[in-house]
Amino acid sequence: MSDTLSLIRPDDWHVHLRDGAALQSVVPYTARQFARAIAMPNLKPPITTAAQAEAYRARIMAAVPAGVDFTPLMTLYLTDRTTPEDIAAVKAAGVVALKLYPAGATTNSDHGVTDIRKTYATLEAMQKAGLLLLVHGEVTDPEVDVFDREAVFVDRIMRPLRKDFPELKVVFEHITTKEAAQYVTDADRFTGATITPQHLLYNRNAIFMGGLRPHYYCLPVLKREEHRLALIKAATSGSPKFFLGTDSAPHASVMKENSVCGAGCFTALSAMELYAEAFEAAGALDKLEAFASFHGPDFYELPRNTTRVTLQKTEWTLPEAVPFGEAAQLKPLRGGESLHWKMI
Ligand code: NCD
Ligand code: ZN
Repeated sequence: MSDTLSLIRPDDWHVHLRDGAALQSVVPYTARQFARAIAMPNLKPPITTAAQAEAYRARIMAAVPAGVDFTPLMTLYLTDRTTPEDIAAVKAAGVVALKLYPAGATTNSDHGVTDIRKTYATLEAMQKAGLLLLVHGEVTDPEVDVFDREAVFVDRIMRPLRKDFPELKVVFEHITTKEAAQYVTDADRFTGATITPQHLLYNRNAIFMGGLRPHYYCLPVLKREEHRLALIKAATSGSPKFFLGTDSAPHASVMKENSVCGAGCFTALSAMELYAEAFEAAGALDKLEAFASFHGPDFYELPRNTTRVTLQKTEWTLPEAVPFGEAAQLKPLRGGESLHWKMI
């Protein structure tokens, strides 16, 4: 087998770039790996207006290193108060999608939607305008076991939503279960899904290996091995519905290694390396380019990139920590450990 892999430059269809000094620290990693990235809007306070999205885009662009070609794709945080009238301005500002966070589902989601029916008039306007809906697909019902929240979301929210808005393009973000993978596989071409590197590489044992490992904790949480295998099957199937979205979500290491650990894995430093490892282990390296570089732009109806990147099969050690903002440290997933591929 060849020890280099050349592919069309990939895009990241789900990333958290944060703001301020943290943004300065992480944008260069994503811009090095990816040509474009969907910038998630869950800042404090969240990005809820077209003007905020435009200002955030400018702050991201200012953090891109000179000479690096990178385009952030902007999203808005859908709230109970986003109106159908807002949608025209959002579209005009070049925003590509709105993100649905069920209130309380994850990091910085307290402004999220309390009841999807409250957003129906806005979803109608989005369907008309051709804006995508990106979904954090977990119910927040405290009665539902944390490992079942995605599967329950499929039945309680996704199925009715798809029936009510059949032509709204929906991305089921960071899917983690066989139920979600099956749902998307069976859906029509208006439904897609992103898959993270950690959910392709690890099952929930990784969180508990020899002690509690906070850097493997993200939401939706890692699931059983049967679910990981279903995600591998979906990602390597060649189906255009599945595409790359790292969900790289940086939190300072003091916040991860804390009595209450923030949810999120930081993978922007080595995302393509981790995906290559997962695809290679599945004997499907030939499917990586379409997953990473074709299916995403096709679903979003954007042009594919034209320049290329190279991944080389080589052992190297990922730094254990990198600077994060003014005083903090950021620990990447697999930091201090060996990786088998390197983007050159
Ligand atoms: C994300 C974050 O930290 O912003 N965390 C995570 O565990 N994935 C939020 C999210 O995408 O759920
Ligand atoms: Zn996310």
